Order: sequence, then structure tokens, then C-alpha cells
Amino acid sequence: MKDKNESLSACAIRVPKSGTLKMATMAKELEAQGEKIIHLGIGQPNFNTPKEIIEAAHQAMLEGKTGYTSSKGILPLRKKIAEIHTKETGVEINPNENIIVTPGAKASLFAGLVSLLDPEDNMIVVSPYWPSYEGITHFIGATTKSVPAHYGDFGFPFEKIKKAINKKSKVLLINSPSNPTGAIYNLDSLKFIRDISQDHNLHIITDEIYKKIVYSGEYHQYLSVSQSLEKTLVIDGLSKSHAMTGWRIGYSIGSKELISAMNKIQQNVSTCVNTPTQYAAIKALESDEPTKKMVVEYKERRDKALELIAQCEYLSCNEPEGAFYLFVKYDGPIDSEALAVRILHEKDVCITAGAVFGVTENYIRISLASDLASILEGIKRINDLLANR
Ligand SMILES: Cc1ncc(COP(=O)(O)O)c(C=O)c1O
Repeated sequence: MKDKNESLSACAIRVPKSGTLKMATMAKELEAQGEKIIHLGIGQPNFNTPKEIIEAAHQAMLEGKTGYTSSKGILPLRKKIAEIHTKETGVEINPNENIIVTPGAKASLFAGLVSLLDPEDNMIVVSPYWPSYEGITHFIGATTKSVPAHYGDFGFPFEKIKKAINKKSKVLLINSPSNPTGAIYNLDSLKFIRDISQDHNLHIITDEIYKKIVYSGEYHQYLSVSQSLEKTLVIDGLSKSHAMTGWRIGYSIGSKELISAMNKIQQNVSTCVNTPTQYAAIKALESDEPTKKMVVEYKERRDKALELIAQCEYLSCNEPEGAFYLFVKYDGPIDSEALAVRILHEKDVCITAGAVFGVTENYIRISLASDLASILEGIKRINDLLANR
């Protein structure tokens, strides 16, 4: 297999390109040729980072806080994270032992998975799932076992998960609210997950990066159900909740043993998160108000987009309870990757193919992190292409 690329490692060859970024790159190429593209592809909030957060970073820089920090992150930030999550879950979290601050939630996932999985292990995920989960397991050489959600409401597939677990299963990764479906796991699902974690000695990685972006129903953090960090690794961050994607700030909460393993990885890869960002993050965590305002806007976009989709002959969509995406089903004898490319080239709309999230059925993902007029125009153009294909 390695003959064509002998100079590259098996790992470099194995790791896939990011499917979500692929469409964005193609869109940029078209824009460079003068096309005007409607961007409904990547999950990047179209809000500015709140001013007070920017000011906190600026102040830190002026005060000379520009050197390396502890690789786990500055202690005041870890204390703030511990205080918030202890209050929200009732679980005691030691800022010195149970927290690491990383350059984005993605880096937390990377360090967490590298610390837990060996090549012979498998990780179970519910599909559709965010593609980097599989990308990271490819890096390790481990296997991803994907179990389809209940199509329709995308609820947790209890029995299918039980069947998928075998001796090599080490991790079950959950993501609620989900990217791309917006599904939220209810209390029964989380209790079931806790029970199978205990019965099968599985580590639960719970990616809660969209936990503040909830429109309806009750949201429960998994740690509030597991009540223990022994086999729970929480992944969180500020990219989505505080429109801080480019700052690269995320964090993990886990057992002392796992966090110290992740810290060794961070020490050898990135050293620490850039220092002014860490001070900005303390400011961000002081208030949910900016997030609440964003959620009001996302909800309006979601509702108007769903109203329009209900009138589109070739499209249908389950109502997402959280996150900021629509996972839209379409009618037509065309696979989702080919459709995404045609929508981009023929209609100047950038979306993401359902195949990128591990589904073979006819789905595309539309990001609501764009202005309402663009979202509605984009949906009309997609339906139009399907009607006239
Ligand atoms: C489900 C999920 N987890 C994690 C991330 C990573 O976020 P970041 O690395 O920007 O904190 C994303 C980003 O799109 C995501 O959708």
C-alpha cells in the first residue's frame, strides 16, 4: 500500500483529510475566481467574540502575560472551570489534578484518545458523527465502530450499542447536542450509557461543546449522571459558545491519571494554549449572556429554515434540539458528496455532504452559523437544483 508514497509514514497516509474543510477550500477557490458563494458549510459562528473577552486578552498582553504557562493551563482558569462544572454537576473537581486546558476541544479529543486507545482497541460512536473522531482513531491505528442513531429523531440506539460492544471496545464517545443532527440525549439515555460503562469497563468521552446551544427540552451533562471522573472524560470549549473558534481554546475534565497522561502529550506537542487566550477564557466563563443572545438568533434561523424546508418538495428535516446545524434529508438518486459538489458549482452554495458524518443515506448538513437571508436563499437554491436535476 505504501509504494506510491514511500517517503510518508503509514500514519500520514492513513489519516483522512477533513471532509468539512474540503468543501470550504473548494468554495474559496471559486471565490478567488470571482464567484459569490453562500457559506452554509463550516461550524463557525458568524458573531464576533464579545468585546469584553477581547479586552481581557489585550489587558493580559499589556501586562506582559505573554510567556509559556503551565502546560495544563493557568491555575485561575482551571479554578474557574472546576468551580463551574462542580456547581453544574455536583462532582468535586480538583483544578490541579482533573483539568487540562488545550488549544481547542479538538486537541483535548486528540490527547484523550491517544491516551486511551491502542491500535488493537475500538471506539464506539453513534453515527452520524463529527468526522474528527474517526480521523483521530485513524491516527492511532485504532478502529471506529459506528452504530447508527435512530433515523428520524436521531435518538440514542440503546440495543444496537449493546450489540456493538466487544472485548476490544475501550471507549464510547458521545456528543450531545450532536453535530450534525442537533439531537440531545435524555436522562434515560445517559443512565444507560453510565450502566454500560460500568458493566463493560468502557471509558465514556462526552463531547459537550454545544451544551450551551440548546433550544428545547432539558439538557443534562453526562458527568451529572455518572457522578464520577473515574471513567468519564468531559470535552468542552469556548469556540461555539463564545464565538472563539480562532482563539483555539478548549478543555478536558477527567481522572487524575488520564489528565496527567494527556498533559504529557500536550507538553510534547503544543506546550500550552497561548497565554492571552487563557486570560480571555476566564472572562468568557464569567458570563453566559453573550451565548444566550446568540441562541435566540440561532433559534430564529432554525425555525424560519424549518418552515421553508417544510414547503420544499425535495427536502425534509427533523427539528434539532441544540447545536447550530440542520441535518437535511433530500430526495434524489445522487449521493451526498456528488450533490454537495453540484450545489457548490451550479448554485454557489457551500454545504457539507452527509457522507462526511458517516452516513450513506441522502443527507446534507446546513450550518445555521450564517445570516438568515443567506440560509433561506441557500435552501431555495438546493431545492431548485433537486427539482431540475
Ligand atoms: C462536535 C465537535 N466537537 C469538537 C469540535 C472542536 O472544536 P474546537 O477545536 O474549535 O474547540 C467541533 C468543531 O466543529 C465540533 O463540532
